[in-house]
Amino acid sequence: MTLARRLFRTKPTQRIVAEGGHGVGGELRRTMSLWQLTLFSVGATLGTGIFVILGQAVPKAGPAVVLAFVLAAITALFSALSYAELAGTIPVSGSSYSYAYATMGELVAWVCGWCLMLEYAVSVAAVAVGWGEYLNAFLRSLFGFTLPAAITRSPGQDGGVVNVAAIVIVLLATWLLLYGASESATANAVFVLIKVAVLLFFCVVAFTAFRTGNMAPFAPMGVAGITAAASQVFFSYIGFDAASTAGEEARNPRRDLPRAIILSLAIVTGIYVLVAVAAVGAMPWTEFGPRSTEASLSYIADLAMGATWPGLIVSFGAVIAIASVVLTVIFGQTRILFAMSRDGLVPRVFQRVNPRRQVPVANTLIVAAFISVLAGLVPLGQLAEATSIGTLFAFAIVNIGVLVLRYRSPRLPRSFRVPLFPATPVLGAIFCVIVMAGLAGVTWLAFGLWMLVGLICYFLYGYGHSRLNAEVT
Ligand code: ALA
Repeated sequence: MTLARRLFRTKPTQRIVAEGGHGVGGELRRTMSLWQLTLFSVGATLGTGIFVILGQAVPKAGPAVVLAFVLAAITALFSALSYAELAGTIPVSGSSYSYAYATMGELVAWVCGWCLMLEYAVSVAAVAVGWGEYLNAFLRSLFGFTLPAAITRSPGQDGGVVNVAAIVIVLLATWLLLYGASESATANAVFVLIKVAVLLFFCVVAFTAFRTGNMAPFAPMGVAGITAAASQVFFSYIGFDAASTAGEEARNPRRDLPRAIILSLAIVTGIYVLVAVAAVGAMPWTEFGPRSTEASLSYIADLAMGATWPGLIVSFGAVIAIASVVLTVIFGQTRILFAMSRDGLVPRVFQRVNPRRQVPVANTLIVAAFISVLAGLVPLGQLAEATSIGTLFAFAIVNIGVLVLRYRSPRLPRSFRVPLFPATPVLGAIFCVIVMAGLAGVTWLAFGLWMLVGLICYFLYGYGHSRLNAEVT
């Protein structure tokens, strides 16, 4: 078989589905209901983006940051519809990696899996980095003291040495994940209810200080400001697809995965727009950045009420919110590696399942170690942008995957079909490219290097160990 044919050989959809759930030494357990899956995706999505990055995006767009959230939501929506179609057709744990394997072949699948590492492992590190800020805001309001910057900030940030706080939250989440998927899903459901309640509380408080004058001028930096802010806040939507990594632990994946993906995006979009309107209505946009710290929502809540207890509640919500993102996203990363390992593209250790707990223990520990190092040593901003570019690339592949699979296998059973085909996936892919174009040059450079390393890894390991190719050589 020629090199090109090997690299682009697809894995039959039926076979991907048939292998679902099976690992080395045990099987994953199907326990997750529609609500658990939906809360799982909301859990993975609602976190640093709204609690931290909103405050950083306002100086770029002014009050029009609200439109930036809408623009980013539209970008996410097209891709969410495509995810829903493929998750209902190929309901396994590998998410877009598996969809790419079924539609565009092994090399694209590998590239996609490598990008998913940015979406999951790197993003969770970025999220964990922000955790220390909120933990400090919480401790400051409650006890009047903060943990030293040396252990709550990354090297290079003001006084940071090692972000121990970020490492601690990663380890706590890992401990919970080792208990089992169902236990983790239940803990996540509780976390999600708390964080949604806290954000609604923030809206109520901030609306009491709402001034129409704060909304003018609405878009001081024009359209360019809005698109730049949209690229930045896109990070806050990352994670709506997390349910697609739980395909092998869902009770009724074909029916529930598409629903969970779309429902979760609808829930977070509603919350984000409401929170953004409340935030910019309560504080003049010029005060974001210079006057508010990274914990801008707490700051606004205190300002609105002229007291310190509202900020305390908001920072508590953020501490919980970020914990649930860390929990669900680490879960997602382990399941993607699980699927890649089953195909031979990463070592077998990633598909070993503990027969008693029915979770991939070694896989979870390796992922946690990798994320801890990253979270402890790299600052949030750089990580967040790298995450967005990788995610957008994976989303673009999913949109193209829908087109390919519809033309190649039109009769395949699909529990959900994107409306207005082919316009939806085509627009989905175009939107991804537009938002990617708004990201900084240095992010593109980092992405290019990341892909180069990925390709080297593939040719050094995956190419030679691929199970699909082993069968034909
Ligand atoms: N969307 C996730 C967050 O904002 C990554 O924290």
